[in-house]
Amino acid sequence: MSFPRSRLRRLRRTPSLRRLVRETSLQVSDLIMPMFLVPGTGVRREISSMPGIFNLSVDQAAEEALKYVELGISSVLLFGIPQDKDDSGSYAWADDGIIQIGLASLKKAAPELNLITDLCFCEYTTHGHCGIIKDGDLDNEATLEIIIKQTLSHAKNGADLIAPSGMIDGAVGTMRQALDENGFSNLPIMAYSAKFASSFYGPFRQAAQCAPQFGDRRTYQMDPANLQEAMREIELDIEEGADIIMVKPAMAYMDVIREAKNSFSLPLAAYNVSGEYAMVKAAAANGWIDGERIAIELLYGLKRAGADLIISYFTEEMARRFNGSAITY
Ligand code: PBG
Repeated sequence: MSFPRSRLRRLRRTPSLRRLVRETSLQVSDLIMPMFLVPGTGVRREISSMPGIFNLSVDQAAEEALKYVELGISSVLLFGIPQDKDDSGSYAWADDGIIQIGLASLKKAAPELNLITDLCFCEYTTHGHCGIIKDGDLDNEATLEIIIKQTLSHAKNGADLIAPSGMIDGAVGTMRQALDENGFSNLPIMAYSAKFASSFYGPFRQAAQCAPQFGDRRTYQMDPANLQEAMREIELDIEEGADIIMVKPAMAYMDVIREAKNSFSLPLAAYNVSGEYAMVKAAAANGWIDGERIAIELLYGLKRAGADLIISYFTEEMARRFNGSAITY
């Protein structure tokens, strides 16, 4: 049936008709807010390349967490900037480490909030790589050993979900086994399965002080050109016991999100990363775009592409604007 009997504009005539036939739903509860914990007290330092996002000491983060719950935010993803760094990143599993202390105080302040911990070493190592370096490259097996330590440390200190982001082969299986053998068989893993070696992480590396001091991450993070390999990475993580899979970054990888959605039935997360946030904020600050509407459009795009969950620095802003309910364009 074609025009004039078909007129697609009929269902676009009013806001309520448009709402009735909207195909994609986007809620504040789909979003996960990243947080950057730093040592000290009373620290609340805005990250210059990420307006509205702060390095927070644990006391400040606890206040923020309480606010998040009131705003309808269900989950945060925690990153830690340690008091000190060394070759193996041992503050990543220290009992008095920033994440360990942060978990305890955020849990106390906001027990309903899902505390997700990013599991990596780049913030904790002097060389800024995501594990143990041997002969100038990341040593897979040696890194798996310290992954076990960091996993159990996050588990014991109350993480609700652990998210390995290092792209180390065998990480998910190694973590699953360590958790199961130590009484944490109910603790889920959100795997950064298809994580690409991306320049979109630039502002994050300033926020988390984790830029590699030599070379880059291309021997462990994926080549941005590869879709088939991304599916293989995801498949392996599922076999190893991942509970949630992830594609990262998001905007330049929507085909990867869609392909993953079509191929696998696990909950799928997309990470709307720091560079994606910074670009929108910078253009909006110049008056070149409507930042809020662009953010909503981007988040809808990621959900339409197939993401069930979105890790996004826009989470707090969206929660404030839409008061914990449906996000509308
Ligand atoms: C740590 C990690 C990174 C990000 C999340 N976890 C940086 C990196 O891999 O270099 C990036 C997140 C962002 O850009 O928002 N491995």
